[in-house]
Amino acid sequence: MDLHSHILPGLDDGSPDLATSMAMLEGLISLGFSTVCATPHQKTGQYLPSLSAIAEAHTGLLKAVAERQWPLSIPLAAENMWDETLYQRMQDDAIPGYQGSRVFLLEFVPSHLPMGVFERIFELRCAGFLPVVAHPERYTPLWDSPDLMDRLASECVMVVDLAAVAGDNGRKQAKVSRKMILEGLAHAAASDLHCVADLKSAKKGMAWIRKKAGEATLERLLASNPRKILEGTHPG
Ligand SMILES: [Fe+2]
Repeated sequence: MDLHSHILPGLDDGSPDLATSMAMLEGLISLGFSTVCATPHQKTGQYLPSLSAIAEAHTGLLKAVAERQWPLSIPLAAENMWDETLYQRMQDDAIPGYQGSRVFLLEFVPSHLPMGVFERIFELRCAGFLPVVAHPERYTPLWDSPDLMDRLASECVMVVDLAAVAGDNGRKQAKVSRKMILEGLAHAAASDLHCVADLKSAKKGMAWIRKKAGEATLERLLASNPRKILEGTHPG
C-alpha cells in the first residue's frame, strides 16, 4: 500500500495528464502495490487545487482504472502543508484526510518546525486526529536531534520516501531515512511518486529495505502498518 503519491492528473507538480497517471499506476502495480493513496498537494500560494477539482480528477482516474479492470484501489487524501490553509481547516474541522477520515498526511517546510507544533499536534490527537508526517528525513531540525525525532515519531506517524531510502534525494536524506528504518522510527514507506521516472527510485528503495532490513520489515512498512494507519491506529 502506497500512502503518498501525486497520481491524480493535472492538479499539482505530479502527473500532468491521465495517460501519465495510468503509466504511473501500471508501474506501481508491477512493484506489487494494490492500494495507491492519491495525495495531491494542498499548499497555499503554490499548489492548492480546489477540493472539487481533486474529486473530479479522482473520479476520472477511478473510471479509467475500472475500464481496464486493474486490481487497484485508490483512496483519496491530500498532502497538507502546515500553513494557513491547514490552520483554517483545523478550526473548521475540515482537514482533507484519508477517505474523509481523521488520519491526514502533512508536510512541513524543510528548514524549520513551526512554532507550537507539538502543542497543536497534542490538540489534534485529543480531537481524534492522527497526523501522518510525509518524508520526515527531509526536515533539517530532526537531523541532529534524536530527541526531536523520537518525540515527533511518538506523536505522529512517520512515512519515509522510498526515493530517499534509495539514495536519490541526497546523501543526508538517505542516511536519515535508512537509520529511521533500522531503528524502527519509520512506520511506513511511500513512493511520493510525481512521474514515471520516479518508479525507478521507488523500486530501488524497496530493494534497499529488503536487503538491509529484511522482507518482514518491507511487509510491515508497505502493508501491515499502512493498513493500521488508515484504520486510525499509530503503529507504535
Ligand atoms: Fe508529496
